[in-house]
Amino acid sequence: MALRRFDNKVVLLTGSAAGIGRATALRIAAEGGTLILADRNLAGAQQVAATIARDFGGRADAIAYDAADVTSSRRMIDNALAFHNRLDCLINNAGIYRRNHFAETTGEDWSLVLAVNLTSIYHIIHQALPALTASRGNVVSTASTAGLEGIAYAAAYAASKAGVIALTKSLATEYAPAGIRFNAVCPGRVRTDLGIGLAPVENQNPQIAVRPSKLLGKTETGEPEDLAGAFAYLASDDACYVSGSVLVVDGAQTVG
Ligand SMILES: NC(=O)c1ccc[n+]([C@@H]2O[C@H](COP(=O)([O-])OP(=O)(O)OC[C@H]3O[C@@H](n4cnc5c(N)ncnc54)[C@H](O)[C@@H]3O)[C@@H](O)[C@H]2O)c1
Repeated sequence: MALRRFDNKVVLLTGSAAGIGRATALRIAAEGGTLILADRNLAGAQQVAATIARDFGGRADAIAYDAADVTSSRRMIDNALAFHNRLDCLINNAGIYRRNHFAETTGEDWSLVLAVNLTSIYHIIHQALPALTASRGNVVSTASTAGLEGIAYAAAYAASKAGVIALTKSLATEYAPAGIRFNAVCPGRVRTDLGIGLAPVENQNPQIAVRPSKLLGKTETGEPEDLAGAFAYLASDDACYVSGSVLVVDGAQTVG
């Protein structure tokens, strides 16, 4: 029997026009979820919504949202709640990746990466707390193996993702008595615009290599669909006893 873990659940997913967010949206829709797709790329999110309606007969609404803008983050939650007046799962997935030598990383680069990848999540969760409290909902945020291990030529990115992990664990503790779960997923390298779209850094030290997946039958770089099941699991009631977890999904890229 097909899984229907998201029947009657409203799921808000940021960064859902492409890549990991798109794959996760399709997976949750296939399991009966009602989606709200928030992205800077509104046309892309609308296309995902149309695919959901066509392939699964489900409801999905797209809303414009810029994670770099505090007002937009807070307004986005109000707009999302206007659709169904409830929120069961919030998936904070929008993110950007900038690569450069640390010495050439400007304060502006640093601030933008932190704003999009971390500070937006503070504003979103803060604004969504009353709705999450009412539904005893849950939050899944996209971190990265970079947030656990660090990564050369992307210190701001790694710092932002380490922040996502710390925020997740802190809120899991603080809101456990309210019944709200908080978890994070740490993807390794995944075949998306963000994961493979950037040119190598000039004069990159060749001794600092990208670590490929070691998993039998898998390509060296993961596919967005390899991640979707992990997000769906954590957002579902199958994970009702899971909070404060950081799930690494990297095809054994970082072990060993
Ligand atoms: N691809 C990888 O190798 C990898 C590895 C670890 C973590 N991640 C994380 O996974 C998440 C998804 O990335 P992806 O690989 O699917 O990349 P992607 O570029 O395919 O998708 C990112 C999505 O976020 C949206 N977005 C970007 N900036 C935004 C903003 N300011 N406001 C609103 N939306 C914005 C984009 O429009 C896009 O739809 C990110 O948080 C990323 O850091 C990716």
